[in-house]
Amino acid sequence: MKTLHIDLKDRSYNIHIAPGSLDRAGEEIKKVCPRAKKLYVVTDTNVQPLYLDRLGKSLSEAGFQSSGAVIPAGEASKCPTLLSGLWEGMMKEDLTRTDAVVALGGGVVGDLAGFAAATVLRGVDFIQIPTTLLAQVDSSVGGKVAIDLAAGKNLAGTFWQPKAVLMDPETLNTLDDKTFSDGMAEVIKYGCIADRDFFDFLCAHPSRAEIMANIEHVLYTCCDIKRSVVEADERDTGVRMILNFGHTIGHAYELAGNYEKWPHGQAVAAGMCVAIQLGFGLGIMENDEGIQSLMDLLEAFGLPTHIDCSWETMVKAVGLDKKNQGEDLTMIFLRKMGEALPTKMKRDAVLENLEAVYGQ
Ligand code: GLY
Repeated sequence: MKTLHIDLKDRSYNIHIAPGSLDRAGEEIKKVCPRAKKLYVVTDTNVQPLYLDRLGKSLSEAGFQSSGAVIPAGEASKCPTLLSGLWEGMMKEDLTRTDAVVALGGGVVGDLAGFAAATVLRGVDFIQIPTTLLAQVDSSVGGKVAIDLAAGKNLAGTFWQPKAVLMDPETLNTLDDKTFSDGMAEVIKYGCIADRDFFDFLCAHPSRAEIMANIEHVLYTCCDIKRSVVEADERDTGVRMILNFGHTIGHAYELAGNYEKWPHGQAVAAGMCVAIQLGFGLGIMENDEGIQSLMDLLEAFGLPTHIDCSWETMVKAVGLDKKNQGEDLTMIFLRKMGEALPTKMKRDAVLENLEAVYGQ
């Protein structure tokens, strides 16, 4: 069992990483939400048959009344219609301001349930129980909650820190290989942006079995990097942007595949390959030795190092990027493997350099 404390003053919380912790969730929630009587649990159609009964048992043993909603699995659920469905459901259950919302599932469940918790009754407590690798290393930590709009992903949202994040690494055993790999893209990203030793550790353990044999170390290291970044820049106006290495280009791939063909991690994997080459081409990266190791590591986990995307889609995605400020865009490059360098550039200059990498 490992615990990590996120220090955000009155919004501080712990991340618990412990096999079997799903069965002890009720006790942990009692500690952080002592006044709560009712818990509204949001999960999805993939996770419900696997883990909802176990969670429900633990909650009732701890004395909670629980109710909730099962949303369809998939990104399409992060929408205004389901958000308002959750609000109405919570009111039907007479949730009060001292009660809490629990997200049991991956990033879609966490983002949607978290946004509902942040806004219902002007905000109620929220607990994250992430069950995918991507949610455990990224989306459940740091308080970003959102839904998608027709214009793009995560365009309506807020920051709402959970009261606790309870990670049971055993839930990763039921993921299919593609979903596991999707999370590995974000795991690899942490090595690239902040920890050369961790990147080398991943290169020395290039399979799902080897990662699972070391899963507590992997989760702890990723969450610790995210902790330091979020503590320094909770509201994403500075250093937190390094977490978006590979994401500007990755968003173009997600858009190109209509958010269905290329899941987030796959798109980010190919996006990191373009970003690292772009940084090298601009002279920001000291040498190119990291480029091939990154590609080899992504390939070892079945992740793409290249995705086809029309130039129109690329231009649209770069224009929509949330790191845009007027004509400027902060691109995340690597100075060397293990060290990210946010670089403010004119959007047109980003596109010109991208055109060179793309050979347009
Ligand atoms: N997933 C990026 C962030 O939390 O800032």
